[in-house]
Amino acid sequence: MKIAVIGTGYVGLVTGTCFADSGNNVTCIDINEKKIEGLKQGEIPIYEPGLAELVEHNAEAGRLVFTTNTAEGVKDADVVYLAVGTPQGDDGSADLSAMWSVVKAIAPHIREDAVVVTKSTVPVGTNAKIFGMLKELTGRECDVASNPEFLKEGAAIEDFMKPDRVVVGVRRPEVADVLQQLYQPFLRTEKPFISMSPESAEMTKYVANALLATKISFINEMANLCEKMGGDINDVRRGIGHDSRIGFAFLFPGVGYGGSCFPKDVRALTAMSADHGCEPTMLRAVDEVNERQKSVFNDKLEEHFGGNLKGKTIGIWGLAFKPRTDDIREAPALVLINWLLEKGATVKAHDPEAIENVEAELGDKITYCDRRMEAIEGVDALVIMTDWKDYHSPDFAEMYQLMKSPVVFDGRNLYEPERMKRRGYKYYSIGRPM
Ligand code: UGA
Repeated sequence: MKIAVIGTGYVGLVTGTCFADSGNNVTCIDINEKKIEGLKQGEIPIYEPGLAELVEHNAEAGRLVFTTNTAEGVKDADVVYLAVGTPQGDDGSADLSAMWSVVKAIAPHIREDAVVVTKSTVPVGTNAKIFGMLKELTGRECDVASNPEFLKEGAAIEDFMKPDRVVVGVRRPEVADVLQQLYQPFLRTEKPFISMSPESAEMTKYVANALLATKISFINEMANLCEKMGGDINDVRRGIGHDSRIGFAFLFPGVGYGGSCFPKDVRALTAMSADHGCEPTMLRAVDEVNERQKSVFNDKLEEHFGGNLKGKTIGIWGLAFKPRTDDIREAPALVLINWLLEKGATVKAHDPEAIENVEAELGDKITYCDRRMEAIEGVDALVIMTDWKDYHSPDFAEMYQLMKSPVVFDGRNLYEPERMKRRGYKYYSIGRPM
């Protein structure tokens, strides 16, 4: 098939590249000339494992091309994917301005039988609005479908190639057939292709992310409770997870969720609920618990340093909101760093991929370290904010020598409290006894 993908952010680029890899001819379109020029030279604007190689392979095979020319890019396409950003607006709702301008731009050029598919996360009712807009602009009833993405940053290629399920929202079964053909190469392990109305598909995306975020906020609240009452959240997790109705996934406590999806989607769904006269009690609580969790170490740090962090040097391991990405959007580490700076502390930080992005935001307010051990030299405490594999098994004896005081605040529960004690460390973690 001939496919056009509009928007070369992480969703659009992964989608276009994976469809090219399964043999389709894909044109990726973006209005950002610099980005498109870079992509033509094989420069990938984001860090996503495996993506650079896959782009190169498919570009070389001639199946993946990049352009800023929307008219040219969509004119022959059987399927036009819309994957532009839908950032959070001032009131928490999704800002759809990019989506509307793309719909206007493609309307005069798409084929009569093209299927227009939304891949971006869009509020319920957006597909219906796009249908209405295209009708007005073209005079035809175009096929518009929803196809929400369930890709995790850092594992996006794997998630695309081996989805747990594919969800599409369509008005006509023939449109579902077209999309099923497109996804067939990725569904060979008998994973389900689920067809529903566009409204249900749009809602599915929000409900999936909101439920996952709920699991995290729930376990974080329980972890904090465990700490107060003497329990160990790891044992509790083992105790509940074998119940198949509960399971183990997404119940790791930590310093709160970040990224471009959970925070934005929970707030957008909250705004939609409120707009429709439903009080979103749970959703508001999920967000509130998460915001609080990002500061979970503040009190402990203050207490540890006798209420005064001025002049202390704190090392930080992990700046990205999670491992295997350079994304720092809503990253808990940034909340902590800003607080530490306010308190007069000095910060030395390491991250395998995200330093450049943090530097663009914080400039020379903190010291950036290329090696993890450099970030702990002479520090009064180390705080671990992201569970990159690099931090799982450090040389604790070397660390002990390098740090000014052997104090570790572990926001991802990477180490065993008992062992840390035996190694001579003062060790704070999440929801476990000291
Ligand atoms: C999330 C969803 O997992 C994807 O299915 C979805 O497609 C994507 O949003 C999206 O809407 O585009 P992502 O934001 O990339 O993916 O990252 P996750 O791996 O889900 O992690 C989100 C956050 O939750 C991270 O900050 C992570 O540290 C935190 N987390 C995750 C926990 O604190 N505990 C856990 O048990 C799991």
